[in-house]
Amino acid sequence: MTPRVLDQLGRPLGSLRISVTDRCNLRCQYCMPEAEYTWLPRASLLTFEEIHRLAIVFARLGTEKIRLTGGEPLLRRDLEGLVAMLAPLSGVRELALTTNGVLLARHAGALHRAGLQRVNISLDSLRPERMMEFARSAHHADVIAGIDAALATGFDSVKLNTVAVRGFNDDELVEIVRFATSRGVEPRFIEYMDVGGATQWHPDQVIPREEIITILAGEFGSATALTRADDPHAPAECFRFADGTVVGIIASTTAPFCRDCDRARITADGTLYLCLYREDGVNLREPMREGASDAELEQLVRSAWQQRADRGAEARAALPARGVLVQLEGLRADPRREMHVRGG
Ligand code: GTP
Ligand code: 5AD
Ligand code: SF4
Repeated sequence: MTPRVLDQLGRPLGSLRISVTDRCNLRCQYCMPEAEYTWLPRASLLTFEEIHRLAIVFARLGTEKIRLTGGEPLLRRDLEGLVAMLAPLSGVRELALTTNGVLLARHAGALHRAGLQRVNISLDSLRPERMMEFARSAHHADVIAGIDAALATGFDSVKLNTVAVRGFNDDELVEIVRFATSRGVEPRFIEYMDVGGATQWHPDQVIPREEIITILAGEFGSATALTRADDPHAPAECFRFADGTVVGIIASTTAPFCRDCDRARITADGTLYLCLYREDGVNLREPMREGASDAELEQLVRSAWQQRADRGAEARAALPARGVLVQLEGLRADPRREMHVRGG
């Protein structure tokens, strides 16, 4: 076994997010607000065999967690087949999925049987009409059915992700927590991030962690932060309120966790990104298609990781004034700067 690879800040390459498609069936305002997008060319998408091969390379470098993302990963045909290929990988102790839930009810059972262990599902509002307006989708009931199907299926963990946006869902935070806890699901709030693709981002719409806690404390009592003993690299910090309610908060905008960030991400076309905010990526697809050996691919990833010094979210937080990260022309010129291409 090769020793774990560390970056310039001593962070291991512990977790890999694999985007399996840049397509999405929703148009959430904080992620895909535009009318039109530039899609990755079909021929550039990695095949399952190519994804599997890269996953083995990452596992050899110490990756223990793999998360499948999109766009919306369930739009990729036969995702269960990919899960079945990745689940037995040696060294990978956690195989997870992040989905918007619309197609989940149809796939939950097969994904679980194929070896998927954990599912995170996005739910930004409990009101169908709000989802229509905010995500341009009439499939709210399908998302709820997806959550219930995931729960009935028996995954090791099911979490709900809610991006808190002022003026959109700030009046629903308590209701969303009640919805989650009544089903035994962990609710998590994510601060609205100024990532690539968030072309409508404005600091006034960010609801900082402290404010989320204050809103919830009004209902559930005072909050205490829980220690992150189980996973020091997890982005969410958990809080327990006086009545026992536990809520996770991902404060990437106001209190970033870069110091502990152990994630690499690959886009559906096989570009490796060392940070959500980074401009440039490493093309793994071309060398793979031009006949690179496993050892050569491993060396490519190792040397990229060893040079990594990124603290993208912390650098953003340190700016005197924050605005949109990448303007529309920049996103059109390089769609890989989009959050939905990078896999959230
Ligand atoms: P677990 O902790 O394993 O359950 O998963 P996760 O929270 O890492 O995964 P998920 O896909 O649910 O991500 C939740 C949110 O965290 C995303 O929607 C992003 O907003 C944010 N996020 C994910 N990856 C990164 C990252 O590398 N950097 C930052 N700053 N935020 C991230
Ligand atoms: N800010 C915060 N979270 C975001 N996501 C997408 N765009 C943003 C943003 N601008 C989240 C989704 C989902 C995950 C894949 O990424 O809500 O939970
Ligand atoms: Fe990791 Fe970059 Fe996100 Fe910081 S901003 S947590 S380094 S991906």
